[in-house]
Amino acid sequence: MSEKLTTNKGIPIANDQASMTTGENSSYTVLQDTQLIEKLAHFDRERIPERVVHAKGAGAHGVFEVTNDLSKYTRAKFLSEVGKKTEILVRFSTVGGEKGSADAKRDPRGTAFKFYTEEGNYDMVGNNIPIFFIRDAIKFPDFVHTQKRLSKNNLADADMFWDFLSLTPESLHQATFLFTDRCTPYSYRHMHCFSSHTYLWYNENEEYVWVKYHFKTKQGIKNLTNDEAITMCGVNPDHATEDLYLAIEDGNYPQWDVYVQIMTPEEALEYEFDPFDVTKVWYHEDYPLIPLGVITLNRNPQNYFNEIEQAAFAPSNFVPGIGSSPDRLLQGRLFAYEDTQRHRLGPNHHQIPVNRPKNAKIANYQRDGSMNMDESGVNDPNYYPNSFDDIKPDISFKPPAIEVQAVIDKHTRAIEDVDFIQVGEFWRRVLSDEDKQHLVYNLQQHLGNASQRIQLRQTALFYKAEPEYGIAVAKALGLDIKKVEELSKLSPEERAEATKA
Ligand code: HEM
Repeated sequence: MSEKLTTNKGIPIANDQASMTTGENSSYTVLQDTQLIEKLAHFDRERIPERVVHAKGAGAHGVFEVTNDLSKYTRAKFLSEVGKKTEILVRFSTVGGEKGSADAKRDPRGTAFKFYTEEGNYDMVGNNIPIFFIRDAIKFPDFVHTQKRLSKNNLADADMFWDFLSLTPESLHQATFLFTDRCTPYSYRHMHCFSSHTYLWYNENEEYVWVKYHFKTKQGIKNLTNDEAITMCGVNPDHATEDLYLAIEDGNYPQWDVYVQIMTPEEALEYEFDPFDVTKVWYHEDYPLIPLGVITLNRNPQNYFNEIEQAAFAPSNFVPGIGSSPDRLLQGRLFAYEDTQRHRLGPNHHQIPVNRPKNAKIANYQRDGSMNMDESGVNDPNYYPNSFDDIKPDISFKPPAIEVQAVIDKHTRAIEDVDFIQVGEFWRRVLSDEDKQHLVYNLQQHLGNASQRIQLRQTALFYKAEPEYGIAVAKALGLDIKKVEELSKLSPEERAEATKA
């Protein structure tokens, strides 16, 4: 049955192929063509700000199923029993590029999960890498700027990228990971996902533990080499978006096994690495992976803009039983996501269908604001406490009290030898000979574009972590190995002084 074409107010349209003009051929257009004005004005506003990071992405709907009962550690209802299923939304992304950038670019991949639980929406916003470049939120805007474009010419720049990283040695672990083939994954389906941060789990008795999440791909790890990735950027800039979409359309539903590592508060005091430092992992032999569940992606969005572009994931969205940790980077993230979403999507972004709790009811006295659609606010009262309705807080949801000893200061965190140990171990124990060759080649292809003084400073960090690693990179870049070794022995301040412009 044919339908009438209408304006946005439902008024029938007589002619949608011609503007209202003063004559048949060249002529003036009249302001009273309100249909034309509405159509152009709406088009003029079709774009919303893209995400300041992670602008290019793809997503899908699915389900999370519990396979192992860990409810003694967390009161989160969606984790309460084996077999329990929760609807989820997932968005994968690259980090640095714009919304139209190529999926195959070397970059960490963002891995954002929204669990529509019966106690509200829980978001787990991680990456395909278990660690991060920095460990204090105040460094994040500077770090991101180095991945973007120079102001003067709007070009990416190897000098600014490596200048910042080499002056920020805590980035070494992730900088190494970034130049393995894991950061040019074959598709979003063929990579692991990690919380990277440490989070809090607590039970009804207010007992708590620290956890890290790991999502292991059931499709297996599959990567592109550096050269394959460069080719893919040109051949199909949307290759990973297309791969995810087609796999789900074909009924070939991707899956991830979900695990947690668990550390008690007592163990956290003793561990050889700071368990809340996001530049470090917890070794699996110290804290083995404990199965938790399985994720299956089984439904493509019907409208990409509505369901994926407008999706708002925030690390601050916790449900009872899960909380944050004293990770200084995470603490900053607890503010930044909701804040950017108020700007990107508006103060009522939680009312967009994909962001609304699907299995929990919202009941509070927040009202109005731009684009408000909330019908629950039609009834007064609009304040708490009141003596008309019966909406009230429930003290049984109180999280455990956590004791802290505080000295408020701008506590600068020094770079110490311990910051290099895990990078050396990664080179020696985790990477195969082929992985090492690829890593060195990938670094040469990128770091080779930076000024030599910056190459020296960065390669000294590789050397400090593991001489064999530093020597391999120095050779690939044609650097003086003696100089690299000397620089590796300096303090960060001395090294910066010895390599300044
Ligand atoms: C202080 C550190 C960080 C800050 C300030 C920050 C800030 C942001 C902002 C503003 C966005 C855009 C969100 C939106 O527009 O909806 C974003 C997206 C994202 N961030 Fe971060 N970020 C930080 C660290 C991290 C870390 C450590 C990870 C991973 C472990 C991460 C993973 C992601 C992901 C996956 C997205 C995309 C979410 C989506 O698909 O919508 N970020 N971040």
